[in-house]
Order: sequence, then structure tokens, then C-alpha cells
Amino acid sequence: MTILIDQPAFGIDGDGEKKYSNNENEGNLSLEGGFVVPDANAFGHTFRDYNAESERQKGVENFYRSNHIHQTVDFVIKMREEYGKLDKVEMGIWECCELLNEVIDESDPDLDEPQIEHLLQTAEAIRKDYPNQDWLHLTALIHDLGKVINLPIFGSLPQWAVVGDTFPVGCAFDESIVHHKYFTKNPDSQNPAYNTKHGIYKEACGLDKVLMSWGHDDYMYMVAKGNKTTLPSAGLFTIRYHSFYAMHKSGAYQHLMNEEDIDNLKWLQIFK
Ligand SMILES: [Fe+2]
Ligand SMILES: [Fe+2]
Repeated sequence: MTILIDQPAFGIDGDGEKKYSNNENEGNLSLEGGFVVPDANAFGHTFRDYNAESERQKGVENFYRSNHIHQTVDFVIKMREEYGKLDKVEMGIWECCELLNEVIDESDPDLDEPQIEHLLQTAEAIRKDYPNQDWLHLTALIHDLGKVINLPIFGSLPQWAVVGDTFPVGCAFDESIVHHKYFTKNPDSQNPAYNTKHGIYKEACGLDKVLMSWGHDDYMYMVAKGNKTTLPSAGLFTIRYHSFYAMHKSGAYQHLMNEEDIDNLKWLQIFK
């Protein structure tokens, strides 16, 4: 796929540097009609400063402790099998957007806005910068809908199995993953089949072959695929890996990526 990407005006550092920074707060962006985009990147994670003092900091750290201990190969396989059935509920996209408002994301130290606002602001910001990429607007609108698995009608999964940064299981946990120290208590860390650089995977096998920690990203990907979405590969990639910060922020796990992943990553970068 040929990709032509203009310099986005939203979600990228002022100097155009696409690497991550925790200092992306460069003021609000007013859109036409008085719509105001907050000081957050497109996925709502501008202030991802995990060392900063805040009321939620402790809660966030506890969240990652549970997440890192429980996200194992066995758990991910079980969840993919269970949720891959797509037999929970049938509903429209807008209905799901409204339902999402009932979900609170305990993994984010700063995101206080209602979820539905985050979805709309993300989609609007992307639409402004990429008016002709309608698939990208839709991708932005639905990227977080998978968080509904936290709600009773979708199985009441605990927060650690719904939100937060995602990462591969079945190979060594990269040190760039937030609160990496808690992986020492993950049983997979002691398993010689899983704790090497490549683990159960082959060089450049492609992320599609890699089991990711279970959460809303992979679930929404499965929902889209299962409903025969017409979104292009880059849209699905963005939905599936938008919380995979070790990859798209820190550049980790490149040895598992194939050419299509690298191509698609350019679109995911737009959301940063
Ligand atoms: Fe988001
Ligand atoms: Fe998300």
C-alpha cells in the first residue's frame, strides 16, 4: 500500500518529531463551529507521565501490577476463544458509543472526560486533518468501543483485562513497558519457552501472529473482523494496536513486525 501522509496538525510534537514526548501540551485547538479539542493526543493520552504526582497515580500503579501479573499466554488464549464467539450482545455503533460512557478507564491518570467525548473529539480532529480519509474518521470513532467488555452485559471483565497499555505475551516483556517491574510475578516470566526475545515467535512473523495482552483493542478488532468490516488493513491495525505503546512509542518488538505492519504503523502514528 502506498501511503502519502501530510504533516498532521494534531497529535504530533511541534517540531514534527514523531517520537513520544510527555510534553505535548501545546494549547487547545479550536475547530470550526466552536468545537474544542482538548490538550490530549488523538487517543487521549497526552499526559502519560507515570512518574508525576497525582491522586490517581497509586491507582494506576495498582492497575498495572494486576495487569502485568495476570496477562499470560494461557489467559489471552482463553479470552480470545471466549470473546471471539461474538455472542454477547448485538447493537449499533452509536448505541455502543453511548454505552461506553458507563465505562471508567482506571489505567489513565488524567483522562477525566466522558468516553463519548473522547471518541467524537478524536474523530473530529482526524476528519479536520484528513478530510478525504473517511475510513480513518470511522477508525477514530470506534477505536475504544471494545472497552464495553468491562460492563455486565459483556462479561464484567476487570479493568486489567480491558484497558491500559498492551504488549505481546509468549516472549520476553520489553523493558519499555510501563511498570515493567511487576512482570517478575507473571508466571510466564519463569517459563523458558516464553521468556526469550523471540519466545514462541519467528523473526518478522508479523504482529498478526503475535498474541497481545487481552483488552479492548484486540476485542474491537475481533468485532470488526467478525462483522466483515470494510475498513482497510491500516484501520484495523490502528484499532488493534493503539495501546501497544512499547511498539509505537518506544520502537520495541520491531523484530516481530513484517512489512505490512511497518506500512500500517505510519497511519497509527497519526493518532499519537
Ligand atoms: Fe482512546
Ligand atoms: Fe483505547
